[in-house]
Parts: sequence; C-alpha cells; structure tokens
Amino acid sequence: MCIQGKIAVAGRQSRVASNFLSLVAQTQTSTSTDELATGDSPMPTTLLFELSDGIARITINRPDKRNALNSTVIAELGDAITRVETDAAVRGVILTGAGAKAFVAGADITELSQQSPMEGKARSLLGQQVFRRLELCGKPVIAAVNGFALGGGCELAMACHIRIAAEHARFGQPEVKLGIGPGYGGTARLPRLVGKGRALELLLTGGVIDAPEAHRIGLVNRVVSGDKLMAESEALLHTILENGPLAIRACLEAVDAGLETTLDQALLLEANHFGLLSTTADMREGTRAFTEKRKAIFKGV
Ligand code: COA
Repeated sequence: MCIQGKIAVAGRQSRVASNFLSLVAQTQTSTSTDELATGDSPMPTTLLFELSDGIARITINRPDKRNALNSTVIAELGDAITRVETDAAVRGVILTGAGAKAFVAGADITELSQQSPMEGKARSLLGQQVFRRLELCGKPVIAAVNGFALGGGCELAMACHIRIAAEHARFGQPEVKLGIGPGYGGTARLPRLVGKGRALELLLTGGVIDAPEAHRIGLVNRVVSGDKLMAESEALLHTILENGPLAIRACLEAVDAGLETTLDQALLLEANHFGLLSTTADMREGTRAFTEKRKAIFKGV
C-alpha cells in the first residue's frame, strides 16, 4: 500500500534521546501499513510522504526553489519525523529532493535576509532540533542526494545515517558567501564526518565539491548514476531492514552516543546493549535460524 502526502502525526512535540526499549513497546502495539491513521494534521504542502513496504520516502517538494528549506518545510519535516518515530509501519526512511537539480539548496535565503538576530537564533535552534530528531529517530535513514546539497541541504544529508549521491550531486556549505555561517549543524557534523581540516576548508571557502570528491573525503558512502539513485538507496535500505530492528536501533544509538563520550563509556554502552538484546525474541530467532540454516524472521520484540 502506498500512501502519499498523508502525514499522520501526533503534533510537533520534540523528542528526547532514542531508547530502543521504547521500540519494543511500540512494536508490540504495531499497526500494519493498511491500518495507518490519518490523524488531524493538515496535508503537507512542501513535502511528499510515501510509505511502501516499510520504507517511508520523504521528498522535499519545492523544485522551483531548488527545495530550499523555508519555515513550512522545517515544520512539515518535523511532522514527518514524528510519524517516522511513532508509526511502527515505518521501518526505514529515504530522504530526497523533488526534481532533477537539487536535493536541497539550503535554507531559504529570502527568509534569512529578513531575520533579526533573535529570529536567526530561533531558526537555527528549531532546524537543529528537527535534524537531530531525524538522526535519533531509531530507524535507518538514507539520504538519496539527487543534486545540489548546499548549506542546510548538506546539513540535512549529514543528519541522515547514510548518504548515497547521484553522480551529478554537488555538496558545500556556502553560507560564508552570504555573510552568515551554517545554522543547522554544519560546523558540528561536517568535521565529525570528514575531519577538521577538510571541514574547515569547505566551511571557510564556501566552495562546492562534486560527488566523487565528497566520496573521497568520506562525506558520502556511495556515488551512483542518477537513474539508479532511488533503486540503489532502496536496495541498501532493504538489506538493512532484513536485520533485527532492535539490533539496528541499538547500533544507531551506540554509534551516536558513543562518538560523543569516552571510549570506556562507549564500550560500556555497547556491552549494555549486547546484554539487553540477549533478552529479545529476535536474538533467539536469529541465532536459531543460523543453526537451522534458514533465514531469520525478526519481529522486533
Ligand atoms: N533560498 C531561496 N531560494 C532559492 C535558494 C535558496 N537557498 N536556492 C535557489 N533558490 C531559488 C532561486 O532564487 C530561484 O528562484 P526564482 O526562480 O524565483 O528566481 C530558483 O530557486 C532557481 O534557482 P537558480 O539559481 O535559478 O537555479 P540553478 O539551477 O541555476 O542554481 C543553485 C542552483 C543551487 C546552484 C543556486 O540556486 C544557488 O546557489 N542557491 C543558493 C545556495 C546557497 O547559498 N545555499 C545556502 C543558503 S544558507
């Protein structure tokens, strides 16, 4: 079943750190894709939300403005993420941009040009919060980068767990050319992904790099031809989704938290997850399937 443009969410409340125990509870009361509630939220105007076979495809849909992130996009993206967090039928996400030219060409410069300092700070904090919720949603998120990923677009791609770029994609943080800096996490995530020196070169020059260069420096996982972008992204996500969802969630959580703490604390978190996962039916199923030489059927419990 494919549901387009229906964001079934329970408001825009922010979400604190992910915890895969919550997924156990969620999964135990899961709905099927045929039972999705439509909720009271209005139809989104700037993005598409399609759910098929457990994969939510979220498309930022302002191609005439190169999918620039205005306030409406940020709000509707927040709603879409709430649905990803709360709808058990969503098992993974592919995020992309409408049209052939852009993934996302950044924050909407028209809006930025009129903001006061406090409005600028509030815009930055809100966008950061929405992107962080995406990063912590507990389900794998792949950015299918189908063109320009500049400024907030590069930042949005970096908040996804994996990035696949079309050959014609371009990346950069050109904010300094506008006399402003990144506001949606560019100074924080770019050095974590590509290292301090490379990040600073991109941030300080505002230069734009092509997809092979983005791959060379570790900004993207893969580069594929444009006509294969969605198929490759879906194939990779399907491969991930064949695995135990609780184990996937634990990996996402351990890597996210582990990179921000000491090695000893990261190792302890991993051990705690390792022990906790040993209580799950999925772990028993996975190990039994191995000994019985068959494919495991995971239920997320
Ligand atoms: N904010 C608002 N509008 C934007 C935008 C942005 N970040 N990026 C593109 N647009 C708009 C353009 O103003 C134009 O609108 P118009 O048709 O009403 O004049 C439309 O999208 C098409 O843009 P255009 O520049 O003609 O497309 P292009 O394909 O030739 O170039 C880009 C694409 C992405 C290279 C170019 O649009 C660009 O450099 N955008 C700004 C990137 C940026 O600085 N991002 C950081 C923002 S903080």
